[in-house]
Amino acid sequence: MIKNTFTLKSLKSKCLTGKLSVPADKSISIRALLVSSICFGNTKISNLLESEDVKNTLNCLKKLGVKILKKGSQFEVFGQGGFFKEPQKDLFLGNSGTGLRLLIGLLSTRNINVNFKGDESLSSRPMMRIVKPLKKMNVLIEHNNGYLPIKIEDNNDSSLPIKYSLNIGSAQVKSAILLASLNLNGTTVIKEKFPSRDHTEILLKYLEANIKKEKNIITLKSPNFLKPKDIFVPGDFSSAAFLIVAAIITKESKIILQNVGLNFYRTGLLEVLKKMNAKVDILNKKIINGELVGDIIAESSNLISTKVDSELAPRLIDEFPILFVAASYASGKSSFRGLEELKFKESDRLRTMANALKDAGVELSLKRDSLEIIGNKTQRGGNYVITKSDHRIAMSMLTFGLAAEKNITIDDSSMIKTSFPKFKETMNNLNARISNVSK
Ligand code: S3P
Repeated sequence: MIKNTFTLKSLKSKCLTGKLSVPADKSISIRALLVSSICFGNTKISNLLESEDVKNTLNCLKKLGVKILKKGSQFEVFGQGGFFKEPQKDLFLGNSGTGLRLLIGLLSTRNINVNFKGDESLSSRPMMRIVKPLKKMNVLIEHNNGYLPIKIEDNNDSSLPIKYSLNIGSAQVKSAILLASLNLNGTTVIKEKFPSRDHTEILLKYLEANIKKEKNIITLKSPNFLKPKDIFVPGDFSSAAFLIVAAIITKESKIILQNVGLNFYRTGLLEVLKKMNAKVDILNKKIINGELVGDIIAESSNLISTKVDSELAPRLIDEFPILFVAASYASGKSSFRGLEELKFKESDRLRTMANALKDAGVELSLKRDSLEIIGNKTQRGGNYVITKSDHRIAMSMLTFGLAAEKNITIDDSSMIKTSFPKFKETMNNLNARISNVSK
């Protein structure tokens, strides 16, 4: 039954304690690399996340002729003002939806021919959401019935800025349009129905692009000639989320996470956890290259159930799996609505999580785009989790196992390296019990 040597199990744990920095933010790391590659001059990036997803973006930029050097703990990107060499081979983005969709946007108006590919999971994720606005901009783009492989072609500078109403809460689509628009002549306007993470807007503003946001309308006047500036990548709130919930659901725990990114559109989980009676707090808030950063304290808590409506969904989209874990240990019935977008992540996260939790003994009811969880302080666990090669499912269910009666084993942990390569070591440094499973 157990597939390979990369399987892990988590055992009931307590007294999670310690102070540490979580890995750097994946969304900001990818944006920092992409945007600095089109600056006029060199950018030094500190604390870049060195995970598989980020490495794939970095390698693609190198194939496009961008020089990137690692000097000590910093990366130096030699920006070429938007000129790229046509790559000899297909660009491979691995598992990364962000890397792929943003890079397609960035290159789509740069007069080059490029083919894009990805792994099995990425190849089954929908791409019409970016193809549609890019086509409206006159980009020449071919796709495989809305999926990878995708090909963009040189259209001899015939792209145009657009006005676009975005009806799904997607920072990737918004960013693809913004990055494509940077060197066009004219004004791009994006109206967001469900506002999503604004790291691209913040970074472009920091680098003095002509961009502004009023309510839910983003306006970008182009062309823009971006000035290089040093960038520090804060800790990833989405990685911190596993540690926060681990401390909350295990006994006698108290942890401090330093320099975590606290972008408003990423931290919906904190608001929900507070309403659930969780002891979580933020200290030492500061702004670093336009992003809010701070320390998070989390400790063992008696959780109560909650209700999450669709409006909040884009602000905790990547945290739903770990929030479902928290709700499993809360007393009472929690309900979550507006979960449609969860189906289009690295796996169908709604179904994958519902199956994993059910197998662990959690009482729940799954509907088309909503979930109800009847929580209990004691959960059985003891199951073998089918992660569908999804890093957030793997880390969420390992976290679940830290408070369950019986061990949780996951089928594969190799994909954890896409976002949090030292997850096991970091958890265990806090006194969690996660170990390898021998064949
Ligand atoms: C991301 C946006 C979100 C999120 C993903 C990272 C980004 O995806 O789920 O992990 O960095 O822009 P969508 O834009 O598809 O919602």
